Amino acid sequence: MIWFSSIRTLAVTLTASIQEGDLVFLYQDARRNWIARAGEGRFHTHRGYLDLKDLVGLEYGVFVKTSLGQLLAVFKPRLLELVNSFSRPTQIMYPKDIGYAIYQLGLKDGDTVIEVGTGSGALTGALAQAIAPNGRVYTYENREEFLKSAKKNVEKTGLSSQVTFRNMDPSEGFLELNADAAVIDLGDPWKMVGPAWEALAGGGMLAGFTPTVNQLEKLAEALRKGGFLVFEAVELLMREFKTETGKVRPESRMIGHCERISVLSPNLSFGYQELIYSYSYLRQSMDSSRGEITVEKMSALWNHLPRRRCYVRNLRQQHRQ
Ligand SMILES: C[S@@+](CC[C@H](N)C(=O)[O-])C[C@H]1O[C@@H](n2cnc3c(N)ncnc32)[C@H](O)[C@@H]1O
Repeated sequence: MIWFSSIRTLAVTLTASIQEGDLVFLYQDARRNWIARAGEGRFHTHRGYLDLKDLVGLEYGVFVKTSLGQLLAVFKPRLLELVNSFSRPTQIMYPKDIGYAIYQLGLKDGDTVIEVGTGSGALTGALAQAIAPNGRVYTYENREEFLKSAKKNVEKTGLSSQVTFRNMDPSEGFLELNADAAVIDLGDPWKMVGPAWEALAGGGMLAGFTPTVNQLEKLAEALRKGGFLVFEAVELLMREFKTETGKVRPESRMIGHCERISVLSPNLSFGYQELIYSYSYLRQSMDSSRGEITVEKMSALWNHLPRRRCYVRNLRQQHRQ
């Protein structure tokens, strides 16, 4: 099935008007789009500027003109667009993986989620949105500078009141109990299996994300030993389509190399705990290189794939023998 999505520009049902201080998503095309704040100052593009006070009082979904006559559509930013504007001191989770994880975790308003590590806060924001307004995300990050940056990022989304940020390594134990879900995204996730088991309510879900097969294997083993039942391991590939009439076909590049593993296992004392475990290659790199692939970006991608690359090479050698 092919999904097609577009954003309407005529505000028939969108009646909310822009207030001073609101964030807006200014859209020229898929490559040229920006987040700005309605109110004071000017917003400069390479094709003219916009007086930001002129946005106040407009309805979302209208066009405005820059000083050089360029049309920009004005939308209320989604979390997706806000996350694209985040500063990224770390790799971030790719949207397709975030969406699937939230569905698998079964998150809903009122849930309690523990997360480690916070990184740039991309996943934190999505978790916060899923459990709002009555739930809470407790996110752990051992690098203070990353946590500060993530806090600023999540504040931008307006969701930070749902989040408790902890500058802490929880490998000796999370401060929470009876959490509905645990999310682990760091290099040595197996260290968090015991603490997560202690912090989760019986039947609570766990999702993990790692960049290599080796990490996956180690984590899966720790999960089985730690009282979880392996539930699912999955790789998600996303293919975009060109939509020009008469030329509708897949884009020549696709977001591949992203893998996601899910696992489920019995919680020895509480019955069953479901786990999702996922891992992903090149998440941020592919994310940020959707426009141009540069030599720097390619080598950054390559650096994330050493084991994968060796494996493929070995197979070919075997075939030749
Ligand atoms: C890949 S990033 C997480 C990215 C995040 N999911 C996002 O979407 O923005 C991994 C983070 O885990 C943090 N981290 C690694 N080991 C940790 C530990 N033992 N305790 C807390 N945080 C840790 C790292 O400092 C890093 O910021």
